[in-house]
Amino acid sequence: MMTYFNPVELIRKKRNGGRLTDAEMEFLVAGYTQGDIPDYQFSSLLMAIYFKGMDPGETASLTRAMTGSGETLDLSDIRKPKVDKHSTGGVGDKVSLVLAPIIACCGICVPMISGRGLGHTGGTLDKLGSISGFRTDLTKRQFIHQLKKIGVALIGQTEKIAPADRKIYALRDVTATVDSIPLICASIMSKKLAEGIDGLVLDVKFGSGAFMKDYGSAMILARALVQTGKAAGIKVKAVLTDMNNPLGEYVGNSLEVMETIETLKGHGPADLIELTLVLGEEMLKLAKIKGGRRLLLEKVASGDALDKFRDIIRYQGGDTRIIDDFPHLTMARKAAMIRARSNGFVHAIDNYGIGIALIRLGGGRSRKEDKIDPACGFKINKKIGDRVKKDDVLIEIYSDNKTKATVVSEFLRSAFVIKTKPCRHKTLIREVIF
Ligand code: URA
Repeated sequence: MMTYFNPVELIRKKRNGGRLTDAEMEFLVAGYTQGDIPDYQFSSLLMAIYFKGMDPGETASLTRAMTGSGETLDLSDIRKPKVDKHSTGGVGDKVSLVLAPIIACCGICVPMISGRGLGHTGGTLDKLGSISGFRTDLTKRQFIHQLKKIGVALIGQTEKIAPADRKIYALRDVTATVDSIPLICASIMSKKLAEGIDGLVLDVKFGSGAFMKDYGSAMILARALVQTGKAAGIKVKAVLTDMNNPLGEYVGNSLEVMETIETLKGHGPADLIELTLVLGEEMLKLAKIKGGRRLLLEKVASGDALDKFRDIIRYQGGDTRIIDDFPHLTMARKAAMIRARSNGFVHAIDNYGIGIALIRLGGGRSRKEDKIDPACGFKINKKIGDRVKKDDVLIEIYSDNKTKATVVSEFLRSAFVIKTKPCRHKTLIREVIF
């Protein structure tokens, strides 16, 4: 039976820099999720956590309490290693779509529960939503059935998975407590731990297109995520990656699905391929499967990974014709182009601005009830370090709405910083933490 505490005493304890015990954390999370603790008290607690932080043990117990607020998948009768990948979010990040089918071809079960776009970053569910008929709302039975049949499924968070996170995240959103490392850590890990996985590879991004703008905070988050996962008994690795550039060439839901298919056909852009391979190698290591990069490349070259992506679409009710015929994806017309105003080298890109521009174009949400236009987006022709000549096209804007395209062109005009002296782009993959 759960011990009763006085919520005011617990808020005061945290406010004064004290440490909450496992039992106290469980009481607070269960009380808030069930409606016994009101928003005003939980808001105060969140703000106290925001300012006083939490030690690794407290973060682990908050995570455990949040996972325990709902159901956890039991995948123990699937004999394969179960490993997932999670990204903290970026612009043009479609790695999950490319990586999940490749990894499933290597004998690993990938039970991927993904999210919608958050702020300026895109979401795997929104990208999948651009495939006509594709369902991400499978029941638990359908999800497990698909994992048994083809070794991979990509769905959204259900009502039953970590309901505490849904409720707490909504409250954080309106109380300026989203950007707290222990709260972000517990939020991400509570959902991942409910998947019944034994390994997780985290892509923790830093830079203008990421939530963590600087390397130092991304490193702290990565360490907290790894520690929390280990405390919960799973194997975890985090890869720190640069999000100052959009990833790949396309940003926008249908365009990113098209780029995924091209990559699975062996024609992907170098940065997307490299990140997919690095994360994939780490997943193989966690699953103790030999072969590394060579095995991953083999699965693409043989067409197996593309066939697996086709299987995922078929099992989840989507239109598989998109694999061979892009016109079956709804894609907008090219409506405008941003050109360089001078010769030089790209020194910086406002990658956050590109994410915001996609929302303005209709390809993301500014309110959670907004409907997305899957067809719009951008093609990014130049990256940091590239040489450009005056009038070279930097970004192409795809939209069927001329007014929006014009507004966004104005907005993006200053997204590229071009200077005359050369600039070397720093490496995409910075560090692996385990
Ligand atoms: N993603 C999440 O799932 N939760 C957070 O708090 C931040 C990013």
